[in-house]
Order: sequence, then C-alpha cells, then structure tokens
Amino acid sequence: MITLGIETSCDETAVALIETDANHSCRILAESIFSQIDIHAAYGGVFPVMAKREHARRLVPLLSHIISEAKNRATLATEPIAPNVFNKKVETIRTILSEKEPELLTSLLASSLTKEKPLVDRIAVTRGPGLEPALWVGINFARALSVLWDIPIIPTNHMEGHIVGSLLMTKTALSTESSIPLIPLASTNFPAIALLISGGHTELVEVPTLGTYHIIGSTRDDAVGEAYDKVARMMNLPYPGGPQISALAEKARARFAKAANTATRNPITFPRPMLHSPDLHFSFSGLKTSVLYHIEKIKATEKSASESLTNETIENIALAFEDAVTEVLITKTSKALDTHEAHTLIVGGGVIANTHIRSALETIARERGIAILLPPPGISGDNAIMIALAGALSSATPLTPSEIEKSTTAIVAEGNLVL
Ligand code: KG4
Ligand code: ZN
Repeated sequence: MITLGIETSCDETAVALIETDANHSCRILAESIFSQIDIHAAYGGVFPVMAKREHARRLVPLLSHIISEAKNRATLATEPIAPNVFNKKVETIRTILSEKEPELLTSLLASSLTKEKPLVDRIAVTRGPGLEPALWVGINFARALSVLWDIPIIPTNHMEGHIVGSLLMTKTALSTESSIPLIPLASTNFPAIALLISGGHTELVEVPTLGTYHIIGSTRDDAVGEAYDKVARMMNLPYPGGPQISALAEKARARFAKAANTATRNPITFPRPMLHSPDLHFSFSGLKTSVLYHIEKIKATEKSASESLTNETIENIALAFEDAVTEVLITKTSKALDTHEAHTLIVGGGVIANTHIRSALETIARERGIAILLPPPGISGDNAIMIALAGALSSATPLTPSEIEKSTTAIVAEGNLVL
C-alpha cells in the first residue's frame, strides 16, 4: 500500500510517500520538508497567519517534487488524467479551495498534479493538534487531491505520528534508495509508555496497544520545547531556542566535568516544578519565571545591562535550566513506567533531539530492563513520514472530502483536537 502523508500543523510544510505491506514493514519512497523557521525567527515564535500562507505556497511544489523523485526511481507509478475527467472535477476542487485557500488553488491548477495521478492508496493528513489555520491548509489540500485522484483520506493525529515515527528505528528505514527493501517496524512489547516532548506538547501516554492511547500526564502550562524557546529568547538567542540552549548547556557540562576533581559545581540551580506531586503532570512556567528573575537580578546588579551576562553565566543558566527540565522529565517518566508496568518506553517530539535528555531516558529504560524506542536522527522534528505511517497503520475507515470537513469542523468546535 502506498500512502501520501501531509503535515502542516505548525511551521514545517512536509509531504512524504511511503510504502507498507500487510506486516507493517515500511520504506520511504520520497519525502520533503520546507522549514519555515527563518520566516518565524524574526517574530521569536510561530506566527499562525504566516504559517498558513507559507504552507499554501509550498505544498504543491513539494508534492510535485517528491512524486517526480519517486517516479524517477521507479518506486511510484503514475497515470495520466484525461482532460474530460479533470473538467468534471475542477468545479468541486474550486468549491473546496477558492474561499479558504485561493493561493493553493491557483498553484494546484497550474501544476502537473492535475495532469498526472500517482498510484497512491490513501492520503494521511494531520488533523491536529496544531495551529488551526495551518492545519486547514493541509486538510483542504488533501480534500482537493482526494477529488482529483479518487483517493480516500485518513485524518491523522500529529501526536500519534510522533509515537509511530519512533517505530521506524533504523536510519536505513529512512533511505529512499529504490534498492532498499521494506523494513519491519520495531517490534514493540506492550503495554508501552510514550513520552511526547515538543514545542506544543509535553505528554505521558499509556499505550496498551498501537492505536489506543490514554493521556496519563500533561503540562499544566508551557510545553517543554516552549520553555526552551522562551528561555532562549530571554537571553537573546534565536528561535527555535532548544538547540541553542542545549549547545550552551553542553559547554557548561563539559567545563564542570573537567573541573570535577576540585568539586566545582554549577553555582546556579533552578526549582523542579511539580517534581513530587502525586500525579504525572508537568509545569514549566514557574521554572521559566525563575530563569527570568535570575537574569533580571544579574542585570540589575551590573553596570551595563548589555554586557552583564557573561558567556560563562549564560552557559551556566542553560545548564541549570536543562538539568531541572531533565530531572522533572525523568522522575515523571520513571513513575509512569513503574505504575503502569510498562515493557517499552517510546519517546517522540522535537525535544528528543536533545542528547542529554535522550541519554537520561536511555538510562532509566536500561535500569528497568525495558526497550526504548526513539526516532532516528533526522525525524525527531515534525515531518510527514510519521504522518503517512500513522495513516498507513490506521484501521479507521477512510473518509471522503466532505466527511473529513464535517468531522474536523465538529471536533474543532468541541475544542477536542487532542490525542
Ligand atoms: O516536534 P517539533 O519539531 O514541533 C512541534 O510539534 O512543536 O518540536 C519543536 C521543539 C522546539 O520547541 C525546539 O526548540 C525543540 O523542539 N528542540 C529542542 C532541541 N531541538 C529542538 N529542545 C531541546 N534541545 C534540542 N536539542
Ligand atoms: Zn510535533
């Protein structure tokens, strides 16, 4: 089965074509991501209107590109769309796109996508959670393609995407070489606990079996990636702040490790919010405020505000922040693993690119003798491979364009776009 994945929930415009078999072995036929980071960096965070506009601009060229790549590798077949067939469909496509996505309509009608149909079995599109205007661009694009190519749609949950993305264990599974065979997904011993850490979410999820998810812990305020981004902004570091803070923390960690024999320790520590609360919930807003107060205190006691934070102090703040975040994540995840007698820890979301958090999670899994599934490097952030895979694994009944429109509108109205 060939699945087209479309992801537009936040600031990455992504498309992917994957092939799966009945045993859920998988290979990537082609994929592409346009990161809008540079566009949003100027605003210090994701600007929903700009995100929507960029998705509308990028989807058609990205999809045309991956179709021709897979076609050239002979891993995807296509069929011409007869002009009389297209003419019968064009009004429906206009109705779907003209009001909400006029730019996407123009770019679709001018493209080769209306002349040639890839032999794809289903379209998996992110329905949420995410930024609503951004999500609709992807959903409406999927609806138009569904009409154009007569292919059903599977609405996909972004967080489920992060979970199943971690089952694509090896780097080989990400290769698009035509000689690569379908590779089995990581065999998972259930029940599993999934820890999802991204810019929008911090969740602990009980996974009794793939496709069944119970949220057992979530953040009361900021997501962990969001806290990284906000702390970075306090120190005038560019968006997204996670990689910046983590690189600075690594520097401080290496410095203190060298000086370990003289018992030199980081002079800065920050509180660990909700560390001892009996539940599995998180809170990172207080930690962020402690960092802010700390920075303001330093600035107030220095003569020149612009020069008050030395490189060393910034590195120490980054380390103290990262240590606090890591201890909270580790403590809560350990508690979830133990209380749910989990056999596997699945980790997903952009923050898992963080090597310190990654190795701390590997340690708690090793201590318990359980497996840990992490996304292969390169797909820890948002991507469409994970969305295509979630859609390919889904046993839900595929929807027609009008069914997905109606059901998504209802879900959005209920404010119920969670895992
Ligand atoms: O999953 P993702 O790509 O997008 C969302 O769905 O939010 O996650 C993005 C988040 C950002 O907040 C970014 O700062 C954070 O992941 N991030 C990191 C690192 N790399 C990305 N946080 C900490 N350390 C990193 N190395
Ligand atoms: Zn994400």
